[in-house]
Amino acid sequence: MKSLLLSRFLLLLPWGLIVILLLDTDSSRAPLAPPARPPQQAAPRRPALPPIYAITPTYSRPVQKAELTRLANTFRQVARLHWVLVEDAARRSELVSRFVARAGLPCTHLHVPTPRRYKRPGLPRATEQRNAGLAWLRQRHQHLQPPQPGVLFFADDDNTYSLELFEEMRTTRKVSVWPVGLVGGRRYERPVVENGKVVGWYTGWRADRPFAIDMAGFAVSLQVILSNPKAVFKRRGSQPGMQESDFLKQITTVEELEPKANNCTKVLVWHTRTEKVNLGNEPKYHLDTVKIELCAESLT
Ligand code: UGA
Ligand code: MN
Repeated sequence: MKSLLLSRFLLLLPWGLIVILLLDTDSSRAPLAPPARPPQQAAPRRPALPPIYAITPTYSRPVQKAELTRLANTFRQVARLHWVLVEDAARRSELVSRFVARAGLPCTHLHVPTPRRYKRPGLPRATEQRNAGLAWLRQRHQHLQPPQPGVLFFADDDNTYSLELFEEMRTTRKVSVWPVGLVGGRRYERPVVENGKVVGWYTGWRADRPFAIDMAGFAVSLQVILSNPKAVFKRRGSQPGMQESDFLKQITTVEELEPKANNCTKVLVWHTRTEKVNLGNEPKYHLDTVKIELCAESLT
C-alpha cells in the first residue's frame, strides 16, 4: 500500500512541479491590461523651412556635365532647395533636360542665349541667365500673398559649396553676406564685421567697389526680390567684376547687410575654377564606336 502511494506520488511529482512553475511564471508577467498611456500630446508643429532658390547659369563646354554632377550631389543633400538651372543657349539641350529629370531634387530648367556681341573675354558673364532666373522667380510668386518665405542665391556651376553654407543662408532676413575662398587674387575675400555690422571689405581687388563681394558671397530674401521688381543685372554701364555690386546697390545698403558664417570669419564656399581640359589628343573626326555625352550639343 505504502509503495503504491509512493509510486503514485512519484508519478505525479513532475506534473505538480510543472504546474507550480507555470503558475509562478504567469504571476511574474505583466498584468494583461495595458498600462495606462500618458495623455496623447500633439507633436509641436515646426514651421516649414524657407525654400532656397539656387540660380545656376550653365553653358556648353567639355566639363559641363562633370560640373553639374558635382553640383547636384551637393544640392541633393540640402532640404527644400529648388534648383533653377539656366542654360546659356537658344534652346534647352537634351543633356541638361535629361540631367534635370534625373537630378533627384526640384529643378526648373530655363534657357536664354547670351547675345554674341557679349561673348567676349573681359565682359561680364551670365547676365541674361541670372535675369531669366529672377524673372521666373518673380512671375511664380507675384500673385501669392506676402509674406512669402524664401531665399535666393546665385550658384555658379563651377564653385564648391559646403552644406553648412545653406544652413547659414536659410535665415536671411533681407540680404546676407559671408566670405568666399580663392577669389580676387587672394586666399579669400570677406566682409569686415564690427559689432555685428559690415564696416568694410577685406579684398585684394578693387576695394573701391561699394560691395566688394563675389556672386557666391551673398543671398537675398525672396521678399526683397519681390519688393524690388526692377532690380536686375545690367549690361549697360557695368564694368567687369562690378555685376555683384551693381545688383546689390539696387536692393540694399552696406549698413543693412546681415553677416553670416560666424561674423564672416569662416569660408563655406570656394570660387574654384575648373582647369581648361587638355584635349590635345582628341581626334579630328569621331573615331570611337559609341557616342559619349559630356556637354550640351553645341548649336553653332
Ligand atoms: C566670376 C564670378 O564669380 C561670376 O559670378 C561672374 O559671373 C564672372 O566672374 C563674370 O566675369 O561675369 P568666373 O569664374 O570668372 O566668375 O566665371 P565663370 O565661372 O566662367 O562663369 C560664371 C557662371 O556663368 C558659371 O555658372 C558659368 O557656367 C556661366 N557662364 C559662363 C555662362 O552661362 N555662359 C558663358 O558664356 C560663360
Ligand atoms: Mn567660376
